[in-house]
Amino acid sequence: MPIDAILGCQWGDEGKGKIVDQLARDADWVARFQGGANAGHTVVCGGRQLVLHLVPTGILNPQVRCAIGNGVVLDPEALVEEIRYLEHELSLPLAGRLRISPFAHLVTPLSRAVESLSAQDSAIGTTKRGIGPAYMEKATRRGLRVEDLLAPAEWKEKLRVEWDALRRSVGADEGAFARAAGEGFETIAARLSEAASALAPMVCDVTDLLLSEDDRGAAIIAEGAQGAWLDVDHGTYPFVTSSNTTIGGVCTGLGIPPQRIRKVYGVVKAYTTRVGLGPFPTEFTGPEADRFRERAGEYGATTRRPRRCGWYDAVLSRRSCRLNGVTELVVTKADVLGEFATLKMAVGYRLSNEARAEVRGGNAGIPWFSAHWLERAIPQYREFQGWRAPLEACRSWDSLPPAARQYLEVLSEESQVPLGWVSIGPGREQVVRVTS
Ligand code: IMP
Repeated sequence: MPIDAILGCQWGDEGKGKIVDQLARDADWVARFQGGANAGHTVVCGGRQLVLHLVPTGILNPQVRCAIGNGVVLDPEALVEEIRYLEHELSLPLAGRLRISPFAHLVTPLSRAVESLSAQDSAIGTTKRGIGPAYMEKATRRGLRVEDLLAPAEWKEKLRVEWDALRRSVGADEGAFARAAGEGFETIAARLSEAASALAPMVCDVTDLLLSEDDRGAAIIAEGAQGAWLDVDHGTYPFVTSSNTTIGGVCTGLGIPPQRIRKVYGVVKAYTTRVGLGPFPTEFTGPEADRFRERAGEYGATTRRPRRCGWYDAVLSRRSCRLNGVTELVVTKADVLGEFATLKMAVGYRLSNEARAEVRGGNAGIPWFSAHWLERAIPQYREFQGWRAPLEACRSWDSLPPAARQYLEVLSEESQVPLGWVSIGPGREQVVRVTS
């Protein structure tokens, strides 16, 4: 059985965690391929709300084994802490069910120090989990990887070289860098070595493992973090994360060839949210925005920052579904729209006259999907009658109110992908398979 991917098709926080949890019931392996502890996957499991940052959400299904691929940037201390938290919450040992690639790059207190001392990251509104600096180090070819942690004889020397290089790159003296990192060099080196001993038994050739498991017919899910519009190449650069959140990231971040991928589930919320700065054409403004955020509980799982909220943007979803080769759309949080008398959905864009003058010969739409043009895009809305009824108790597609079905059908048509599932609440049972 080939590999299925579950990818966010907006700006992250689409509710992928719950969908992975659902689809992982029939899976043998779930693997993360990009991002790091900037992700926050919230899942309600056995009446408890659990938030996962680095461990793939699939771990909540007891038969599933999980892998962290080379494309992830891994904070060893955060991972050890998360494993302990999950073992406590689930009353199950997890270490034997988790595998880590030796090629995953490390996020350390040094990465966070660089981020906190960097003006650019605060201008983007990052999660402050050291993600950008870790990917930056990877690109400089000086970065530290999991395999470096496992070589105690050379580890400290490598960390020292990295410490000095990063400290100089931000123009900090030893004291200022140690303050930004939270501790001095010796303490950090010792702490990371301690985390290394806990993680060492989980390290293996994840690529070979997944390919061999795929060869023997295992069901494997690639679990995305963040969303298409945060992709470092295809998103709203520079207001993006530092990894490839789109389909190519599955191949490079796990080391698997594209023809092994079968289904691609594209997860979208029934509306749109984004955290941090950057363009957002369909964003709500005024008191409506605050009321909606409260009602929808739209606060970051990792940082608790209020999320910006707005109408569903089918133009962006259409693009991200094409980009990802999505075969089935999964819509989450449809229940949250139940109170609106009228709903809107962006189905096209127009440029202001002023912006149009910038595009020679252009008269409609936007020339390409960059932050520059999205800031100038005026959404063209289609309006819908609201259903004004709770959806939380519905358990089948037919039991959804006709107005809700119509909204979801148009959402799928406008996104140009068939609708597979609709989630109507946080609980595991609150999900409906689309049958028509
Ligand atoms: P970074 O990934 O911490 O470098 O942050 C870069 C941008 O991506 C910021 O706008 C963050 O708010 C956003 N971001 C990163 N991870 C997530 C996520 O899991 N959900 C939503 N936004 C995210």
